[in-house]
Order: sequence, then structure tokens, then C-alpha cells
Amino acid sequence: MRMVDIIEKKRDGHALTEQEIAHFIQHYTNGDIPDYQASALLMAIYFRGMTRDETVQLTLAMAHSGMMMDLSDITDYVVDKHSSGGVGDKTTLIVLPLVAACGVPVAKMSGRGLGFTGGTLDKLESIAGYRVSLSDAEFRALAKQHGLVLCGQTGELAPADGKLYALRDVTATVPSLPLIAASIMSKKLAAGANGIVLDVKWGSGAFMHTLEDARALAQLMVNIGADAGRDVVALLSDMNQPLGYAVGNALEVQEAIETLQGGGAPDLREHCLEVAWQMLRLAGRGKQWQDEDETRRMLAAKLANGEAFDRFRTMVEAQGGDVRMVDNPALLPQAQHAHTLYAERGGHVAACEALRVAQASLALGAGREKKGDPVDHAVGVVVHVKVGDKVQQGDRLATVYANSTSSLEEALPLVKAAFTLSDAPTAPLPLFYGVIEATAR
Ligand code: URA
Repeated sequence: MRMVDIIEKKRDGHALTEQEIAHFIQHYTNGDIPDYQASALLMAIYFRGMTRDETVQLTLAMAHSGMMMDLSDITDYVVDKHSSGGVGDKTTLIVLPLVAACGVPVAKMSGRGLGFTGGTLDKLESIAGYRVSLSDAEFRALAKQHGLVLCGQTGELAPADGKLYALRDVTATVPSLPLIAASIMSKKLAAGANGIVLDVKWGSGAFMHTLEDARALAQLMVNIGADAGRDVVALLSDMNQPLGYAVGNALEVQEAIETLQGGGAPDLREHCLEVAWQMLRLAGRGKQWQDEDETRRMLAAKLANGEAFDRFRTMVEAQGGDVRMVDNPALLPQAQHAHTLYAERGGHVAACEALRVAQASLALGAGREKKGDPVDHAVGVVVHVKVGDKVQQGDRLATVYANSTSSLEEALPLVKAAFTLSDAPTAPLPLFYGVIEATAR
């Protein structure tokens, strides 16, 4: 098989066969196919698209390019979640202990933040000593012992994706729906999940800027899951304003702890309860947790009675983290400067743009511009209002936490520009815009 023929076929708008896709992935991953040919194929896919079958074959080939996790010795049904990335998205820190507190084991590998999107591992590393690098044996032992483990990849999952993603990044081929869907789903399939809840966000702080694009991506991913024999449900959620109040690593851990203790921002809490409910629904496979109202009440109770928090605390301890920081979040890394912005006039909050808050957070050092950059765990932004809130002149809008005056000066105008106040009342933003399940072929 010649790569040039595969490129030509896709260039001319024809569907590739399973063998052609497998050839490309196998030989690109092992270095036989050069970047210039892979780039040409990616660009042809970008313009010509892929059929559902091609996208599934691409996903499966990418998933099988490295280690395929088998967690059947831990549980007979592995349930996982994935967020398409957002601003202030600390959902995993809350949902995993919550689901584990309901007796469903969760063993999850998360990632680091890049650009304006935060990463769960960076947030966890705000807790001194927390080990995100575990061996495969440790990962399995913790999952068995505590029913909960949260770390980085223990082996090379879907290495084809790592290589292709880096190439897409520099060849303007990232925004292709089949390529995005295959990239996300290949990692989930390789991680061994039977059931996956996808949290697909749209808005100024999300990968997808329109609801239509988010819906199309979600549909494609649940279809891939169905064709690959997995149960997948996608939630379409809002990312026009930050999720919850806090943006920044330690600030988000603190907010997650508050939520796990029954408090926290109402939107974050509702968001987490929905994701957790969908995970339980999949894990129950129609036999357990059939009564939705009762299950939702049980989930709320696990937050209120401290069981979810206890699970989080146990996980932190088991992974070497300093639990004094969990018991007393004032011990988490603290920034040197805190500057609060106040409303210059009364009105209704019409926008609290997630992207601007994320840019401010990046300027403060909470995120990384490129892979490998260090992050400052202490800094970030806490917004005090949400879209739809009424404010009086002098009310707090946001507090910016910085470790240098220069970064504070850079961040303040961005945070200020995030807010739009209007004279007319504004409606709160919806948390969710729909649930997507697989469609039959
Ligand atoms: N996230 C991924 O993992 N891959 C993409 O292509 C886009 C977002």
C-alpha cells in the first residue's frame, strides 16, 4: 500500500477502507510515514470529511496504536467521564468521589491544562505531595482498595493521537469534526471504559464556539462509541461563563472541597449532580438506579452528609497528598496579591465571558502557553456574580489573585472586560442544552 494513493483517494473525496486507515495509523505511529504525507492526508480529511465508518475505523486504529487498558479485574463495568474542556471546570474532582461514594468504582486518568483550558492534574498538584504519576500496579491496587483513583496516564494510551494532535496543531487541521472526535474517543476507548459520559461544552471558553458544532461533535462521538460497542451519552453544556466561581488551580480545589461538603456554587453543584447521575445511569445498565428522582436525591445526600468528601480525602491520602490542605483549604497555595473589582454602576449581569477570564488566568500564570511550561497553583480569578444576577454599584464582580504586580496589571483589564452589565434584566444561562445518545444506523 502506498501512502500517496491513500492521500490521492481522500483528496478526490472517496472513502478510505479499514485497511488503508489502519496502514496510515500504524506506519505513521512507528515513523515510517513522514509528517509531510500525514499533513497532506489530514488536510484532505479536513476538506473532504469522513463517513461514520471511516471515523470509527480511524478511532479504533488510533486506540489500538498503544496500550489498551483492561480493568475487568477491578469492575465488570468501567464508567468514565470526559469533558471537552472549559474554564473553571473542576467537575472531575467532585463527580469521581461522588460516584465512588455510591459504590461504583472509578479509576480515571486525566490530563494537564493547555492554553486557556485547565487540567485536572494541575489542579490536584495544588495539594502538596499528591502523586499524579502512578505505575500500572499502583493504579490497579488503589482502584481495588478504595474504588477511586485519579492520576495521569500510567502507560502510553493512543500514541497515534499524541503524534497526530501535534501535527494538526501546526497544520491548521485541528478544527475537523472527525479528527477531533477520533482524537477524544480513541483515548477513552484505550482507557478501557464500557460506559462514557461526555460533557461537550460550547461557548466563548470552549473548544466549540457554537451549539450546532457542539451538537454535531457530540453526536459523532456517541455514534463512534456505539459502533465500538460502548455505552456513550453526551451532555451539551454551557461554557460562555466560567463553571462555578473559581478559575485557577488551588482556587478550584478549594471550590471543589466546598461542593463536596454540600456547599459551593449552585451551577457547579447542579452540573456535577447531572454528570454523576448520567454515570450512575450507565453503570446501572437499566437494573440499578432506575428511579431517577430517588437516585438524584441519593446523590445530593452524598454531598450533604460528607460521604463524597470522605472519598476525596481518602483518595488524596492514598496518593500521597497532604490531607491537612483538604481539611483546611487555607493551607493550599495562596497568592501574594488579591485585587477585587467592583461594579461601577448598578445593573444586570449580561455577560461574564469565560474566554476573557481564562486569558486573565493564563496571564497570571495559572495555565500554560505550551506543553511543559510550569504553572502557578496559587493564582487565578474568582468571579462573584453569574449571568442573570442583579448588582448594585459597588458590589464585588471578581477578585484577581496574583503573585506579581505585572501579571496583576495584565489580568485586571481582561477581567474587567469580561463583564457586561445591562439596564434590562437578563436571564441566567442554561447549564445544559440537551442530552445526546447514539442513533441507530
Ligand atoms: N481534545 C482532544 O483530545 N483532541 C482534539 O482533537 C480536541 C480536543
